[in-house]
Order: sequence, then C-alpha cells, then structure tokens
Amino acid sequence: MAQTALITGASSGIGAAFARALARRGDHLILVARSEDKLEALAESLRGEQAVTVTVIAADLSLPGCGVRLAAELAGRGLAVDVLINNAGFGSAGAFAQQDPARDAEMIGLNVTAVVDLAHAFLPAMLERRRGGIINVASVAGFQPLPQMAIYAATKAFVLSFSEALWAETRARGVRVTALCPGPVDTPFFEATGTPELRKAVPEGFMMTAEEVAAEALSALAAGRPVVVPGVGNKLLSVVPRLLPRRWMTLASGKAMAR
Ligand SMILES: NC(=O)c1ccc[n+]([C@@H]2O[C@H](COP(=O)([O-])OP(=O)(O)OC[C@H]3O[C@@H](n4cnc5c(N)ncnc54)[C@H](OP(=O)(O)O)[C@@H]3O)[C@@H](O)[C@H]2O)c1
Repeated sequence: MAQTALITGASSGIGAAFARALARRGDHLILVARSEDKLEALAESLRGEQAVTVTVIAADLSLPGCGVRLAAELAGRGLAVDVLINNAGFGSAGAFAQQDPARDAEMIGLNVTAVVDLAHAFLPAMLERRRGGIINVASVAGFQPLPQMAIYAATKAFVLSFSEALWAETRARGVRVTALCPGPVDTPFFEATGTPELRKAVPEGFMMTAEEVAAEALSALAAGRPVVVPGVGNKLLSVVPRLLPRRWMTLASGKAMAR
C-alpha cells in the first residue's frame, strides 16, 4: 500500500535523496524546506517520473511552533503522515565563544526543537493506526563531544538519544524509529557550516553519497533498527568513543578539528 512520507530539508542533499528513493517505491511525498523554488523543481521532476502525489510546503522549521503549524496545514489538506523524516539541519564550525548566539539558537531550533515538535505532531496518530515510521537524521558527531563544533555535536547527541528512547517506547506498538548517523556526505552541508574547507579535511574514502546514506536509512527503518551508521569507517568512529575514556576522546577530536 502506498504511504505518505513527510521529508524535511528536501530541497537538497540527503533530503532530496530520500525523496527520490521514496518516490521510486511509489510513496506519496510532502516536501518541506525554506527554498520553495527548489522543492517545486524536485516535485515537478518526481511527478514526471513516478505516479506519486508530491505536496510542497515552504516553511522555516527553526521557528517556534513549526510542528503545530505544519500539522494544522496538513490536516486542513486532509493529509496523514505515515513516515516522518526529520532531516533538515545545519552545523557551524569554530570555537563556541566566537559563534553568533542567534545562529546557535537557530541551529538548536532546527536540529532539536523542530525534531521534537514534528514527532509530537505526527507520532500519536501513527500509534493510533499502529503503523508508521520516523527517521531522525543525527550524525557520527552525536557519539561524542566535538570541540570546534560544540553546539552541532550536542544537537546530534540529543537526536540520537531521543530517537533510541522513542524506538524503545514504540517498537511494540507498530511504529518504527531509526536514528541515521552519517559521517561525511557529499552535499552542500559543508558550505552551510560557513567553513567550506572542512570538506577538504575529510579523509580519502570517507565521503559517501546522499543516495547511499538514504538507502541505508530506509533499509534500517524497514528492519526496525534503532540506529544506522552508514560506512565501515564511520561505524568504527561510532564504536571507538564507547571504548576509550571520554575525556581523552574529546581532547583528541578537538586536536583533529583544529588542524
Ligand atoms: N552532509 C554531511 O556530511 C552530514 C553528515 C552527518 C549528518 N548530516 C545531517 O544531514 C541532514 C541533511 O543535511 P545535508 O547534508 O543534506 O545538507 P544540505 O544539503 O545543506 O541540506 C540541508 C537541508 O535542510 C534545509 N534547511 C536548512 N535550514 C532550514 C530551516 N530553517 N527550515 C527548513 N529547512 C531548512 C535546507 O533547505 P533550505 O535551505 O531550502 O531551507 C536543506 O534542504 C542534516 O540534519 C545534517 O546535519 C549531514
């Protein structure tokens, strides 16, 4: 049976890859981001390729109350959400004391508050139907503190912890929850951090495509896995912080980030 998936941050990168993968399997889509023109262009090409309905909603999800507003808009259009993909997010790099407090608040609003708001908005109906799924996009940065990306890593640690708890709460009630924890993915993410040179620091062989990452996440959701870390090197990065002293790991990753 065709499902309806809501994808945040669908205007580029991993979100657009999710949209293409879900359209290929016949899911109807609700695409959300700020760039309406990019969403419309993607929707147009997907409608041309697949027999799916694609709804575009332009919204700034870093603003308070976004989940309530989005849920009201979709209810008004008679649309239910079977799969929620909380993908929209951004990071910024540099020492915490030099960051713009307003930009940090925007990041927490988008990466954390919107994820919680949208889960509040759509999870209860999934539980009632005893059917549905949520993919929350975290990061390998969520497995440990990351000096020079302190707020970003903390937001992703929140997403990871929140998702695992939701997975445990909902797994016997017909709803699946998976945290996707990618390492570096070839998207405009690096430019959005304000330090595009971060891209050059990615070790050879570590960069994955958005398509690879989205496909692994969808398989993990279908298998009911709480967490998926695409790529062998990234899996290692997610395990090492659990084996070594946290203080040591934090200092070592701070040195690596400062390079
Ligand atoms: N690329 C990586 O290396 C990497 C690694 C680990 C995790 N991630 C995570 O993967 C997710 C997707 O990132 P990406 O790599 O695909 O980067 P991206 O290409 O920059 O995509 C970010 C998406 O978020 C949307 N967005 C940004 N601010 C928004 C706002 N205020 N309201 C609504 N939508 C907003 C952007 O669209 P608009 O600008 O049109 O709003 C865009 O569609 C993020 O959560 C990121 O933290 C990425």
